[in-house]
Amino acid sequence: MTWGGGYVTDIAYSPGYYAEQSPRMMAIAALINGYAATLPARDQAYHFVDIGCGYGFTALVLAATNPGWTVTGLDFNPSHIAAARALATRAGINNCRFVEADFTVFTGADLPEFDAASLHGLWTWVGEPVRAGVLRLLGDKLKPGGLCHVSYNVLPVWRGMIGLQRLMREAGSRLAFRADLQAERGFAVVRRLAEAGGAAIDPMALRIIEQCVNKPAAYLAHEFMNRAWAPCFHQDVAASFAGAKLSYVGSPRLIENFPSLVLDDAARAIVSEFEDPTMVELLKDITANQPLRHDIFVRGAIQLDAARRDARLRAVTIGLAVPYARRNLGFDTPGGTATMNPALYEAVFARLAEGPARAGDLLDAARVTAPDLAADNPGELLAMLIGTGQAVPVAEVGAAMDAPSVRLNAAMFAEKSRGGSIMQPVALAVPSLGGGLPLPGLAALGVLRQHDWLSEATVGQTLPRPNRAIIARWVADAASQADDDMREKMTDALEGFFVDQADMLTALGLVC
Ligand SMILES: C[S@@+](CC[C@H](N)C(=O)[O-])C[C@H]1O[C@@H](n2cnc3c(N)ncnc32)[C@H](O)[C@@H]1O
Repeated sequence: MTWGGGYVTDIAYSPGYYAEQSPRMMAIAALINGYAATLPARDQAYHFVDIGCGYGFTALVLAATNPGWTVTGLDFNPSHIAAARALATRAGINNCRFVEADFTVFTGADLPEFDAASLHGLWTWVGEPVRAGVLRLLGDKLKPGGLCHVSYNVLPVWRGMIGLQRLMREAGSRLAFRADLQAERGFAVVRRLAEAGGAAIDPMALRIIEQCVNKPAAYLAHEFMNRAWAPCFHQDVAASFAGAKLSYVGSPRLIENFPSLVLDDAARAIVSEFEDPTMVELLKDITANQPLRHDIFVRGAIQLDAARRDARLRAVTIGLAVPYARRNLGFDTPGGTATMNPALYEAVFARLAEGPARAGDLLDAARVTAPDLAADNPGELLAMLIGTGQAVPVAEVGAAMDAPSVRLNAAMFAEKSRGGSIMQPVALAVPSLGGGLPLPGLAALGVLRQHDWLSEATVGQTLPRPNRAIIARWVADAASQADDDMREKMTDALEGFFVDQADMLTALGLVC
């Protein structure tokens, strides 16, 4: 007897934390586009629901780092729910609960209303009855003014993959019995066809195949082996959400909120002929080739005037997410490349090197050295810095690491390195961020070991930064299978990480 309505259920999904799901990112995206939204405080009573939560990493990180919130993770796969509950127990996180729920029938009767929700990796992978159930839940339980994040495979970018996904699923299901093995075998068939180069394969499909080459089989299975998988146009998703009284307010990939940065001249000229804002989104999807869209919707939009919008954006605090020395004013956009204005952004980075600051204070600091700058644009400042991954929203300056976050980080790292590789990237829970900070696996190992090392110190004793001998011991313990040469290289890399990044991580409270 099978269950799941054609969704992969015989192999668990690979776990991950995704910043786009954070209600603070949702609120910043809405504010940038002039819609009322509030960034919730860490200790505020606030209910966030992760709809289709998988292993629950996002739900757990948000719960651990926002002690006042209640976080609910919903998923119909009991393996996912059991694993997420076990992680919550291991980390001692009490403000997060995981509920086994199939959205085709889930009424949410016992679920309290929520302030924000996210469905990451669900919409285009499930059939119409599941989507209808999700919209019913949002219509019934998302509070007026509440925000919802949804990610999905967008058309027309995926058009060339429709046949190849079908080939992968049909071939895989004939060649193996379990979804991950089917995905591997089916993907090999698709690659063979693509690499032969004879078939008229869409260049974007080739890029998608290329990006999947080193992905884990569990990821490939959940991405490609679902019967109902169907990429969508943004306008169709927006029309579905409108049925639950939700309207589109922006993208948590903040740069994408600026048509001038993502559309070329021809597309901008076409868009300017229409009043309907959804035309911008359609043109972006046609010209920018971004396969996975992230949208933010609000249940009851309130438009702000420019002064109120900017006052709220100026109050948003951010901190550096890269070492100051590695700041980069140039960046790629879906439409090409762009450069931040050095007169403004050099001063902004210099101020951020001293520690987290509000967007308004950063603009004021820049004005001292560059009084001739055009009018302040805090939305653009936040989009440039957060959107290029060089800064992150800070929820509470100075909030220190605490026991639930330390324990959760150890548990997530262990989960990601199951099977022996300590090199898998992982986001660590950081209380000052009220969210997660993605790190390479080796860097995450260094941070975790440093916490253990510091916790062994006598109260009041100050320890130096870990030296090479200590780091080499951590590497030897964690990578006992690696040969001497490899361990030497890993020690070099981790030593370099502490030299390069310690100031930045200290400013966020992640290492001392
Ligand atoms: C691709 S995974 C994404 C998981 C998670 N959001 C993440 O990004 O790591 C989609 C999730 O939706 C869940 N799902 C699929 N169909 C469902 C249904 N009918 N009811 C509830 N959950 C469902 C799956 O079990 C799976 O965990």
